[in-house]
Amino acid sequence: VVAVLFGPPGSGKGTQAAALAARLGVPHVATGDIFRKHLAGNTDLGQLAKSYMSAGKLVPDEVTCKLVASRLGEPDAANGGLFDGFPRSVAQAEWLLPFLSGRGQPLEVAVNLVVPDDQVVTRLGGRRTCTSCGATYHVAHAPPGPGDTCTRCGATVIRRPDDEDAVILQRLQTYHAETAPVLGVLRGAAPVHDVVGTGTIDAVAERIARVIPA
Ligand code: AP5
Repeated sequence: VVAVLFGPPGSGKGTQAAALAARLGVPHVATGDIFRKHLAGNTDLGQLAKSYMSAGKLVPDEVTCKLVASRLGEPDAANGGLFDGFPRSVAQAEWLLPFLSGRGQPLEVAVNLVVPDDQVVTRLGGRRTCTSCGATYHVAHAPPGPGDTCTRCGATVIRRPDDEDAVILQRLQTYHAETAPVLGVLRGAAPVHDVVGTGTIDAVAERIARVIPA
């Protein structure tokens, strides 16, 4: 199965992805997470990605598509994957769709999480992220452990540098200008389910389960 979890920054893609990927039996492929791993490892790719990420801009398409092609070549992705944060430009989508068909695994389904801009700002402004395992928290409704520690692995929990207010607004602008048009391309290739992304995390998970049953 190849599926896409689509939506603006902060719409809950990462929050919902793990459970959905497990249900589909495919790995969760999040380009943002892969870039952050490279950043933490101080690789050349991490250094390159950093300048774009900290400015709220997209990492160039060629670099990102190459990364995804290589990720899909790993053994755990033999049966597909759940994409989160990819494709994020029309060029990425126009590369991905024929690439998947060429593997004999065309895109099957996509979920578009719909969350208004003002909620994106509140969510990302309050988000805290584990520096080790990547678990996410929210200061108001899903707080980290005492002393800003991760309740899952015990590492330190921080505010992501691109969750500073000015960068959040830039990311939203990039989303509307470059990423939202991707939806039109996806809709031409596979069913795309618009799912209301507001309400509790469980309520959103239930809505997703209704449109993508196991
Ligand atoms: P990436 O890491 O993909 O960031 P993003 O798309 O901006 O998505 P986020 O991780 O910010 O949000 P999310 O939708 O996963 O929400 P979450 O579940 O965490 O990308 C970062 C950067 O990398 C990009 O800006 C770009 O530079 C680069 N990049 C990545 N992919 C690229 C690509 N394909 N091409 C080029 N560049 C690329 O939830 C957010 C918060 O809300 C959390 O605090 C959570 O607890 C809370 N929350 C979740 N659900 C709910 C709910 N139902 N109610 C209340 N709060 C909720």
